[in-house]
Amino acid sequence: MILLLVLILAGSPTSLTEQQQRRIAGLQMSSAIPGDPTNRIWDNEQAAVLGQRVFFDPGFSRNGEVSCATCHDPALGFADGKPLPMGLAQGERHAPSLLNVAGHRWFFWDGRADTLWAQALHPFEREEEFGSSRLEVLHRIHSDPLLRSQYEQVFGSMPQLDDINRFPPRARPGRNTQATEVVAWNAMAEEDQEAVNIAFANLGKAIAAYEHQLITPPSDFDRFVDAMLAGNQKGMTVLSPAAQRGMLLFVGEAGCRQCHNGPLLSDLEFHNTGIPNADGSMPSDPGRWKGIQLLGENPFRANGAYSDAPESRRGQSTASLARNSEHWGAFRTPSLRNLNQTAPYMHQGQFSTLGEVLDFYNTLEGMVVMDHHQETVLAPLGLTSGQLADLEAFLLSLSSPPPNASLMAPLPLEDPHSP
Ligand code: HEC
Ligand code: HEC
Repeated sequence: MILLLVLILAGSPTSLTEQQQRRIAGLQMSSAIPGDPTNRIWDNEQAAVLGQRVFFDPGFSRNGEVSCATCHDPALGFADGKPLPMGLAQGERHAPSLLNVAGHRWFFWDGRADTLWAQALHPFEREEEFGSSRLEVLHRIHSDPLLRSQYEQVFGSMPQLDDINRFPPRARPGRNTQATEVVAWNAMAEEDQEAVNIAFANLGKAIAAYEHQLITPPSDFDRFVDAMLAGNQKGMTVLSPAAQRGMLLFVGEAGCRQCHNGPLLSDLEFHNTGIPNADGSMPSDPGRWKGIQLLGENPFRANGAYSDAPESRRGQSTASLARNSEHWGAFRTPSLRNLNQTAPYMHQGQFSTLGEVLDFYNTLEGMVVMDHHQETVLAPLGLTSGQLADLEAFLLSLSSPPPNASLMAPLPLEDPHSP
């Protein structure tokens, strides 16, 4: 133990305890991200081609200018580099990176989607994102020969959208029963609504078939773990002494791994860290509390009618969700991979640098404590500036080169899969 301390203080922690090794190995991105049984076309290549085309296509937004890539830009780690996103209007939460996104269990900061395919349906109908409606989206696919043939190759015939008496140009369900689109939706026959919902869910599944491929190659940290497990001391020098010291703080006294563990350095669950609002006001975003309610109300969920495996474990864990007061103001633990590309940080982009994030954890200055709502895990760390720099060096060692280049841009118009 004393020897170990000496080595750490000397700057080269070459010997690690078994517990440290176990904890460190638990952060490696080793095995493949599991598939999603609620999406039967998860691994269908043609579906992924359709999904990629839609992802980069601004034609699905009301003003023809916003695509998924507007806020999830491949050049910015599939995030947007801004505190708050700008689609048709400014959003209220920061746009997360989509790198390795399929490794999550719940999607959005509040987890109001439980599958990647169901998540993908939200932006189309959100006022501040695409401001469109599911009928407009499907009409666009139906009237575009390439999109339509790609859709029909994977899913079979589209609904008979030529008949605009049955399938109005703009319609979607909604609470505001005065809105033109909602009036049009409510006037549709139930079986036509059902056919539209199935086709809309299919589109989400195609987008997910693309998105789950956004996996990053191994980082220096992952290479370090390979070397550590192989007992290859030389290989372990891929991490600088500072990054190695930061890594030991991360899995040790800084307590980060309580929430940031597993291959994404996220427990995939929700916590209230008491980060103040960007403008200093009291937090009013209910986070997971509202997220659980919204998920339960959404027909597009893992245990719902449009799921391909409602009885799967994923479906069952949605079915058994229950709210408690600790969910109020809790947000999903973000992945800590590729932070070099995804500033600013936190659910409102409150912090523009990693240094600011670490200063917060170190002092908890400005932390908002919401009486009984709060967990009590966080305590000020009181680390030295040298230790904070070490932690930052470790966090940056979790950065990888981008995913496969073919996924990073709109597809050429010629369908690469046609003969
Ligand atoms: C106007 C900006 C904007 C557009 C356009 C947009 N997104 Fe997002 N996206 C966001 C924001 C902001 C969030 C987080 C919102 C929240 O948590 O409430 C998000 C969340 C996500 C997530 C969840 C990530 C996670 O880690 O949980 C996925 C996946 C995603 N978007 C994919 C898409 C796809 C696919 C499209 C196009 C169909 C799209 N986005 C269009 C801003 C945007
Ligand atoms: C109690 C659980 C918990 C602990 C402990 C914890 N975090 Fe976090 N971390 C979170 C949550 C939740 C968020 C998102 C909070 C938000 O946006 O409101 C977050 C956000 C972050 C972010 C921003 C990531 C991004 O993309 O926005 C970084 C970086 C980070 N944590 C690093 C650390 C480090 C380093 C430690 C240890 C010093 C640590 N965390 C300890 C739960 C935790």
